[in-house]
Amino acid sequence: MQMITRPENVKLLTEKTFSLQKSEQLFEQARKYLPAGASSNVRVHMHEPFPVIFEKGVGPKVWDVDGNSYIDYLMAYGALILGHKHPKIIAEIEQQLQQGIMFGTTTEREIELAKIIADAVPCAEMVTFANSGTEATMEALRIARAVTGKDKLLKFEGHYHGHHDYVLFSVDSPSPVSGLESSPAKLPFFPGIPDEVAKTIIVAPWNNVAALERILKKNHNDVAAVITEPVMASQGVIPPESDYLKQLRELTIKYDCLLIFDEVLTGFRIAKGGAQEFYGVKPDIACYAKALGGGAPIAAVAGRRDLMSQIGPGRIGFGGTYNAHPLSLAASKATLETLFKNDGEAFRRMADLGSKLKTGLAETLSAAGYNVVVNAVGPMLSIYFTKLRKVSTYRQALQSSSEKFKRFRDEMLKHGVYMHPDGLERLSISAVHTEREVDETIIAAEESLKALRTQIIS
Ligand SMILES: Cc1ncc(COP(=O)(O)O)c(C=O)c1O
Repeated sequence: MQMITRPENVKLLTEKTFSLQKSEQLFEQARKYLPAGASSNVRVHMHEPFPVIFEKGVGPKVWDVDGNSYIDYLMAYGALILGHKHPKIIAEIEQQLQQGIMFGTTTEREIELAKIIADAVPCAEMVTFANSGTEATMEALRIARAVTGKDKLLKFEGHYHGHHDYVLFSVDSPSPVSGLESSPAKLPFFPGIPDEVAKTIIVAPWNNVAALERILKKNHNDVAAVITEPVMASQGVIPPESDYLKQLRELTIKYDCLLIFDEVLTGFRIAKGGAQEFYGVKPDIACYAKALGGGAPIAAVAGRRDLMSQIGPGRIGFGGTYNAHPLSLAASKATLETLFKNDGEAFRRMADLGSKLKTGLAETLSAAGYNVVVNAVGPMLSIYFTKLRKVSTYRQALQSSSEKFKRFRDEMLKHGVYMHPDGLERLSISAVHTEREVDETIIAAEESLKALRTQIIS
């Protein structure tokens, strides 16, 4: 059993009153003016009866509008890799503000950041900037279609690649309409996506080489690219099986399709060069966002020179008024320079904390009688309430109990720990979390489980 030292000033539930009254009132108003009360569905999904509304953050902690403080494991869905209000990011943005908010031309900062990325990321011979992961995967896909002359895209069940129609299939695959695991049905994520778009998508199960080969063998003449999260993390953290990514790379070469890594979650998080460095597999194109900006809206498409250089007037289109926005470039430069200091020591530290939290949570939950699997890759974690011994496929992740997770999460909230109420949204540890936060989290888990003891569990 892992030894946890209880910090002296850890506040327990019994020592403070917990109220979310102001969050509730604000959300009432939000619902009058904002559809569903938020500007992104994930901000309300499973937040019944209402979401906690945040007001400020410092380092690994966040405060809500009622004055409650939490250890933050949402970290703005993983964007805040240096935590809240990092002084270097603020200083770099302030310096840029003095020079002007934006110009609409290429800037020196942009060239500098592209070079930093090219030096860090194995596949990045050239880099171009956008504002969100959605835009990045949209452009990567367009490049793949243009250079191969093929229209179809193979994506994996459970993987999320952003909010454009081309990838919004089988992100969520509820039984019984989802078909067999080896041949998943193609399901639009929500209404409003034309049937014609569905015809361009082929869905395969992830972490299953045999199924992928069967599907590619049949369809490769039409498939421009295979897009994958190299670590499944947008719907529950699941690492690739050993050699899976290598075999995926070999199959895409064999069947003449491009390989796109969506590193929006893994990039600048699990290693300096992301998943491609971590697993030693080089894709043709990779997409970045989230950690890249340390909280500012910026994304990047990086890849082979022969592919990327097809972008340009009269060739492959690429545009965006706010692309390579100087304030975001400033935040990104500060973020990457901080992460890359001391030979990338921050990545090792984040991974160590991830593994400590994984062990601590798994031991605490199982000691309290719960059946759980905790998966961690670097600083990304998922807690699955399941009787399975291992979660290595999306369908296994789906079998875990969202109700049990939500009950645990709601109690953790009262004990000063913030996690998204959907258990398939990962916990994100930042580079400014420390052992102290991890220890406090495990103590909060022990206290929460004591409080839940009267309820039916396991
Ligand atoms: C793996 C992955 N790709 C793409 C995206 C889309 O990024 P954005 O929300 O910045 O458009 C996300 C967002 O969560 C993601 O997790």
